[in-house]
Amino acid sequence: MDKTVQFSFSTAKYFKEQVGATGLQSTDLARLNKKLNQSRQDLKKAWQDGSVGYFSLPERSRDLRGTLELAADIKRRYKTLLVLGIGGSDLGARMLVRALQPEKGGLDIKFLGANTDPEEITQVLSGVDLKKTAINIVSKSGGTIEPMSTFMLVRDRLIRQVGKKQHAKHVIATTDRATGTLRAIADDQGYRTLPVPDDVGGRFSVLTPVGLFPAACAGIDAGKLLRGLKETREYFFRQAASANAILKFAGLHYLGYTKQNRNITVLMPYAARLDLFGDWFRQLWAESLGKRNSVTGREINVGLTPVAALGATDQHSQVQLYNEGPQDKLVTFIAVEKMRNDYTVPVAFADLPGVAYLGGHQFSEILQTERRATAQALAEHGKPNGTLTIPEINETSVGSLVGFFMIATSVMGDLLKIDPYNQPGVETGKQKMFAALGRDGF
Ligand code: PA5
Repeated sequence: MDKTVQFSFSTAKYFKEQVGATGLQSTDLARLNKKLNQSRQDLKKAWQDGSVGYFSLPERSRDLRGTLELAADIKRRYKTLLVLGIGGSDLGARMLVRALQPEKGGLDIKFLGANTDPEEITQVLSGVDLKKTAINIVSKSGGTIEPMSTFMLVRDRLIRQVGKKQHAKHVIATTDRATGTLRAIADDQGYRTLPVPDDVGGRFSVLTPVGLFPAACAGIDAGKLLRGLKETREYFFRQAASANAILKFAGLHYLGYTKQNRNITVLMPYAARLDLFGDWFRQLWAESLGKRNSVTGREINVGLTPVAALGATDQHSQVQLYNEGPQDKLVTFIAVEKMRNDYTVPVAFADLPGVAYLGGHQFSEILQTERRATAQALAEHGKPNGTLTIPEINETSVGSLVGFFMIATSVMGDLLKIDPYNQPGVETGKQKMFAALGRDGF
């Protein structure tokens, strides 16, 4: 394991040598190294010329300071933070809070705005005392139907309870620095604001104030998340393809897709606290790589369908399909070496061999054994798979994983010759909704 980063990546079970004829060719990966190193150079250029901004986030100390100061103030004044956003303005924050919120020292964080389902709104708002709640409306554009309509509802209720003047103190708008509808609203209403950087697209924005503000309000160390990203960035630009886990991950998925039509990417953490990591990754991989046109405008209709699975739960739901179903997937497990706490299964039922053997085993040991057994069973069914291991779930390791998958997505975009940072297919649907709901000009 490279000691400068928080992950190691085992590729052992992807190849023919281990899984038989259906495995990938290790020589194909070696042959791809030149192209992978070129992608690394292309990304360095994109970082240096300012076209891909997420690499620079660890150095943007002014944004981090502003985020932390505002979070400290909100934590002093309120009990709950209600975050309203969708897609890239939502999934990252949910993932960070789920994975990292400490037991004490943070606000209760609730989420709405990713769905206009009125029943969900009732469910969440019924548990919230708006007088003791800060509202974080997150939208880069400010024109997104789901979070903005929810914000209009919550704002109306808040005004009824605390008055027009006072309500502004409860609201923090995370939005574009200069333009957009939410910027105009915030300026007009006197809301405090945090920036979504111009050069960071929605699904790459989890380590901007979009994700870091809710995280800091939850008691999570935002600086350490950025440290994880920085370590990963430095590793990525330092390591040649033959020893670079991120390039290997992207290269293997590129080869699986182009040579064997493996168009499904399964990410399966064996850690319940990382379940929403799969949801965050799902958007990143799907929206970035699913494209009709190449960068030169040729119609190519590419993309890999991400599947978010969870170990051990999905062993009893998905794994039958992974083992015996079509050869259309690459499965990657995320292993966590050390859990925060553990239990031993009590010794009991000595005369019932079906369960007696469990007595004395640690729960974390059972989980690790289940992961290893699942990986081995997949390999024995001829299904290539790999394992990404982190030492434990903490801010630095989660920041590193975020960096790993964002960079891998950028590399895949480069290999597939598409723009991973736009989403014209999402925009089409948005235009149709605007027209149907009567927005002027549509
Ligand atoms: O990745 C993206 O760009 C999208 O998922 C956006 O984050 C999502 O559509 C929300 O957009 P906005 O922040 O403008 O409300």
